[in-house]
Amino acid sequence: MEGVIDHLMRELLTEINRYDLCIAEFVRVVDRKVPEHSFYKIVPELHNAGLTKSGCPVRVQLLGQDPDWMAENALIAHRLGSPGIDLNFGCPAKTVNKSRGGASLLKDPELMYQVISRVKGALEGTGQPLSAKIRLGFDDTSLLDEIIDAVKAAEPEMLTVHARTKRQGYKPPAYWEFIKEIRRKLSIPVVANGEIWTTEDIETCMARANTDLIMLGRGALATPNLANVALGIEQAITWHQTCELIKRWILMDTGNQKPFYYSSRLKQWYRYLKLQFNEADALFSDIKTLQEKDDILSVIEAHLTTAL
Ligand SMILES: Cc1cc2nc3c(=O)[nH]c(=O)nc-3n(C[C@H](O)[C@H](O)[C@H](O)COP(=O)(O)O)c2cc1C
Repeated sequence: MEGVIDHLMRELLTEINRYDLCIAEFVRVVDRKVPEHSFYKIVPELHNAGLTKSGCPVRVQLLGQDPDWMAENALIAHRLGSPGIDLNFGCPAKTVNKSRGGASLLKDPELMYQVISRVKGALEGTGQPLSAKIRLGFDDTSLLDEIIDAVKAAEPEMLTVHARTKRQGYKPPAYWEFIKEIRRKLSIPVVANGEIWTTEDIETCMARANTDLIMLGRGALATPNLANVALGIEQAITWHQTCELIKRWILMDTGNQKPFYYSSRLKQWYRYLKLQFNEADALFSDIKTLQEKDDILSVIEAHLTTAL
């Protein structure tokens, strides 16, 4: 997730959960080859055969509208070691949609078909799978049948459906029941996504979407062990355990990231943690003006002592 779940967060979350696959933040493709260093910057796991330290595969995601350049860049990602390629047809960002990327392609199923099938063709013989991620439509669901026909004809190996339109943004609810219909039309695995925060959501989503494959988004940040909760291996972690986890994350080596990396990323994370933990407010009011990693750590230590 662009700006929130980057390689360090993936490292942390895959260390404590049994994820099958991570999709990296998108790499924007316009009308040229994306330099290799840009792929490595967004997906440093490519230096490690496309795996997090704990061994979870991390797939490069491409976002773009030009079938040939998408295919060309898929091959670069493959050469750099990405375990498969994912295509983004769901991003609602204005800048991306203005240039006909992301969710705006949902308005043009024929172009979606071209993009998916050209990338699929490029990957032929590599043995690497292609997946795509869609929403239910742009303004409404009127083109959903055509979108699914395009996916069916282009034959990716997997489809993830964020069960809302672009216009619905991130506003609850998610319309999981549409996924059940989509599954009827496709023979490939279909992954349900959107508004999964709790065990109840997981169960309801799986039942309504008629799938046992789910992708977690913001819920994975709100309850950091949600994947294991979904698998029935663990209970949701406590606030105290979450603070320990934040500490562990802050002690990770950021490499050559900007000096205030953790203070700004922590503010993003807090947006989701506060949805699950009332205690988050107290901690973050003490942290919000801090920028240095050591200062933030001291506040967390103090908070942990009083939280016991
Ligand atoms: C801050 C943010 C960044 C995101 N970045 C991406 C992205 O790079 N690629 C993508 O496919 N989806 C991205 N998404 C969408 C999520 O993957 C997911 O589809 C969406 O949040 C719905 O799932 P949720 O309700 O469980 O969060 C992003 C969402 C948010 C909130």
